[in-house]
Amino acid sequence: MTEISFKNIKPEQDVFFRDVCAGLSRGQKSLPSKYFYDETGSELFTKICETPEYYPTRTELDIMRDNIQPIVCRLGEECLLIEYGSGNGEKVRLLLEHCDHLAGFIPIDISDDHLKEAVLDLKRDYPELKVHALFADFTRELHLPEIDFPFRKRVVYFPGSTIGNFTDAEALRMLKAMHSFLETGDGLLIGIDLKKDVDILERAYNDNAGLTARFNKQVLVRINDELGGDFEIDQFAHRAKYNKSKHRIEMHLVSLREQTVHVRDREFRFAVGETIHTENSHKYSIADFAALAAEAGFKIDEAWTDEHRLFGVLYFTQKV
Ligand code: AVI
Repeated sequence: MTEISFKNIKPEQDVFFRDVCAGLSRGQKSLPSKYFYDETGSELFTKICETPEYYPTRTELDIMRDNIQPIVCRLGEECLLIEYGSGNGEKVRLLLEHCDHLAGFIPIDISDDHLKEAVLDLKRDYPELKVHALFADFTRELHLPEIDFPFRKRVVYFPGSTIGNFTDAEALRMLKAMHSFLETGDGLLIGIDLKKDVDILERAYNDNAGLTARFNKQVLVRINDELGGDFEIDQFAHRAKYNKSKHRIEMHLVSLREQTVHVRDREFRFAVGETIHTENSHKYSIADFAALAAEAGFKIDEAWTDEHRLFGVLYFTQKV
């Protein structure tokens, strides 16, 4: 029988309110990109991944498929797989299909509905798998569930280049936190988006169907729905541009007119053209990322990429 458990440590609404007020009070207004991922935002992100312009998801899946044997060989037998930002669970299925002897699986995601659905689907397809799902914000301190079954090694699986949504300082903090709960011989399997032609990058974040624009505005919809905000959504425009010096796509919401917005008892003024910075998506070279991970105590073991070097799937071991 499948063993399945859910542990819920979702951020509270007050934390959301505090983050919104802090972000909208800054000189350069900003909102944390993690707030895109409510049920609607997670569904929009799944659809973005299927657009012709958004190459990362299908490229990562192709790399995984093309190299699945050496990858599962790194996991070995009786591995406890811990997935950060598991989303709809599509990528991990490839590992599960090819790994005969996984000890257990801990998916961690900030979107509880999305996670619950993915885990129930897994339960149907892998009845023997032990799953301990964790609804959590992995950018904060993580408390992994108690594991009451044997395993030989732990591997953190962090696909999708989600690490790229954090600054180097934040990414380093997360890598150090992972390193602290791993032991010698444990591993990190991570997907990173590589530096490339600006046109390819900007097209990926400005899809013709307008899904990325809706995704970007979803954070305002959430503020209206959950915090009683009065944003006029169509008075903000989606903008995604590559910042060459910082090697990242930056998403902003641009105020189309002078306007005042309320969130509960707080008031925020916008000038025409003023923006809310909503997301960074950093692009790396394999060497850049290996150096960052080395600072956290990880040693690169292997890097797989596609023929156009659009995306990288990297395996690290715990160094010290
Ligand atoms: C989840 N993350 C890696 C995506 C990215 O490409 O940075 C989020 C995204 N934002 C716009 N499109 C996709």
